Amino acid sequence: MAFLRFLPQPLNSSLSTDFLHHHHRLPYPQQQQQHRLNFAVVKTTALSDSHPSRTLLDSKTQVFDAVPLLSSSQAYERMKAFRENIKGKQQYLAMYSSIFGGITTDPAVMIIPMDDHMVHRGHGVFDTAAIMDGYLYELDQHLDRFLNSASRSKIDLPFDRESIRRILIQTVSASKCRNGSLRYWLSAGPGDFNLSPSGCHQSVLYAIVIQDMSPAAGAVKSRGVKVITSSIPIKHPKFAITKSVNYLPNVLSKMEAEEAGAFAGIWLDDEGFVAEGPNMNVAFVTKEKELIMPHFDKILSGCTAKRVLTLAERLIEKGKLRGIRKKNVTVEEGKKADEMMLLGSGVLVCPVVQWDEKIFGDGKPGDITEDLLNLIVEDMKSSPSIRTSVLY
Ligand SMILES: Cc1ncc(COP(=O)(O)O)c(C=O)c1O
Repeated sequence: MAFLRFLPQPLNSSLSTDFLHHHHRLPYPQQQQQHRLNFAVVKTTALSDSHPSRTLLDSKTQVFDAVPLLSSSQAYERMKAFRENIKGKQQYLAMYSSIFGGITTDPAVMIIPMDDHMVHRGHGVFDTAAIMDGYLYELDQHLDRFLNSASRSKIDLPFDRESIRRILIQTVSASKCRNGSLRYWLSAGPGDFNLSPSGCHQSVLYAIVIQDMSPAAGAVKSRGVKVITSSIPIKHPKFAITKSVNYLPNVLSKMEAEEAGAFAGIWLDDEGFVAEGPNMNVAFVTKEKELIMPHFDKILSGCTAKRVLTLAERLIEKGKLRGIRKKNVTVEEGKKADEMMLLGSGVLVCPVVQWDEKIFGDGKPGDITEDLLNLIVEDMKSSPSIRTSVLY
């Protein structure tokens, strides 16, 4: 039997034991020094030299990591420092949680309990809405989908629809954000670490306001992006039509695309028809100038895609488009099209200039795609029927 005991030891100790000067990997150098831990390694051993685990034990003494026990104020300070040291492109301006029943603007406490079933079981749904010039774009359309997703996921609402809507608008107001995005979740809630939500106290609403500081990304997208056919299995329609937090296939599809130097992967459905991207819908403009888009029965019904279908009517009036149709789109049909585009709250209307080996329009964004992008940006800025004003 062998024992390793770690005894806190003063630095000037004269004991003839090895010292491990071990510090935790902290992102802030000035604190690394303070948190340097000094432990004496005392080996009390009855282990014979021939014992097979001897080497293992010896090597363990080199890497043993003494984890500090933190007070709540220390944990808070570390969270605060962690947040302050992340120089990300996104800033979190305000968060609402129905657990604390209010809004905070302190990123250090924008947290979710570990036993929330959304965290450890993926039992949660979410949605978004863009904030443009102090207005929320298509909030009600996104809310409808949010509540449908919750109902399909058997998550009861903690409040009625009107109260949820009011909370979301107030969260944006508290954030003072005029251009950014609002994201919100309904979770089965905290309670335990079981699979069944029967031990959850109450479903929870969370919301966060995010300001994206990377305007350059938009410029890259407007020049057109490359996509590839995704090899990651598509979600079963039952799950694909629900905006749940189970985005592992979507993440893997995006990573696969990035590894191939592309922007996104395009899924095909179980019959081989074009489906959607990992967080966007897809549409094409055929040689006959028809705007075609896959049906929404096996994929997420995108708010942007639906709005584009309506706005595209104006291009028919101008004689630029001959028709608009939702239909099953084969890969062959898609690759023969004049234009391909991605549609979603994140990308708005994004031209695709290459899908696998197929190059669209000599590698330049198509005219109809550009017209649709202009129409949606104009709609976001000025369409009264679809914007919700925020009182700051
Ligand atoms: C899988 C998937 N498809 C499509 C979309 C596009 O939907 P929307 O236009 O509502 O953002 C999203 C957006 O989040 C998505 O996650």
